[in-house]
Amino acid sequence: MKDISSFKNLKHYPVMLKEVMNICAPENGGNFIDCTFGSGGYSNEILSFQNTNVISLDRDNNAINYASEIKKNYNDRFMFYNEKFSNLDKVIKKDFKADFIIFDLGLSSMQIFNFKRGFSFNSKDKIDMRMGLNSISAQDVLNKCDFKTLKNIIKYFGDEKDSSRIANNIIKERKRSPINSVPRLVEIIERSKKKNYKKKINISTQTFQAIRIFVNKEVSELVNGLIHATKLLKKGGKLILINFHSLEDKIIKFYFTNYSKNKSKGSRYYPQIKNDKILFENYKNKIIRPSEEEINKNSASKSAKLRYAVRSKDNFFYPEELKKRFDNYLKLENENV
Ligand SMILES: C[S@@+](CC[C@H](N)C(=O)[O-])C[C@H]1O[C@@H](n2cnc3c(N)ncnc32)[C@H](O)[C@@H]1O
Repeated sequence: MKDISSFKNLKHYPVMLKEVMNICAPENGGNFIDCTFGSGGYSNEILSFQNTNVISLDRDNNAINYASEIKKNYNDRFMFYNEKFSNLDKVIKKDFKADFIIFDLGLSSMQIFNFKRGFSFNSKDKIDMRMGLNSISAQDVLNKCDFKTLKNIIKYFGDEKDSSRIANNIIKERKRSPINSVPRLVEIIERSKKKNYKKKINISTQTFQAIRIFVNKEVSELVNGLIHATKLLKKGGKLILINFHSLEDKIIKFYFTNYSKNKSKGSRYYPQIKNDKILFENYKNKIIRPSEEEINKNSASKSAKLRYAVRSKDNFFYPEELKKRFDNYLKLENENV
């Protein structure tokens, strides 16, 4: 696998571009918010149609270069903010209402394949994992978290059944010297997991995902991003999300199904939604997946799931049960390091 830290102008391959454009129909114009700009695959495509306005955000300051290129072509139809989408409400003017808001969650190719950023278990560099605008790095997590927090991060954000053993070995190892590099963490994970590991995914995938989620506070980002986006959508506007792992999908599915017209009675284990008002029209719980052709061209799209919902005519109200339902994850992300 190639380290692309020295490749300039590399672009992210926008996942399910055709499917996203079918939902937004930019040929009809409208106001769009692209919450995860990356190298601007969606933004650029939308702007190629007249009568579209796009506001884009990305927490990674490397996105600024790509945004400046797009700005040259579209000037006042395009705005970019180097900001987290949990702060959507702070950057978008109160009277701006969007027809479409898009979130393409996770990492861009530029982030994964720049091995200096330490997101990939193939890197031989330092471990870091900050997307941008973070308060901590992966090194802080590995060298400062207590056993219980570390174990819970790996267990709940990585769905890793050997979380205890991995956390224990991290604590033992860091007493010898700080854990600052990717190969050192990979070695600890390999040693902690059973020799007859048989899953198709790499042995380090779940622990790396867990630490990345914690470093970037991805659950709080998504929950708050969803709420602010709903507030900014026009009635009849569409909220479109592409996600890459089961926890993100669970959050989106809970939100759309429980705040839509045909909301389910829900589980007796989860908070019941008392409000008669709804935020979304009928939600069919339909998942759109990339075509075989796209997966063959870009294997990274394989696990992508697209869901979208249409904003109802009811006025916005704060969806408190969304936060209650995922409170355990939100509290864990808030643990001090
Ligand atoms: C999968 S890429 C998006 C690629 C983009 N659709 C394109 O076509 O180039 C995800 C991007 O979202 C950004 N991102 C992730 N979480 C974010 C957050 N909470 N706020 C703002 N940007 C975020 C990442 O920095 C990354 O650039």
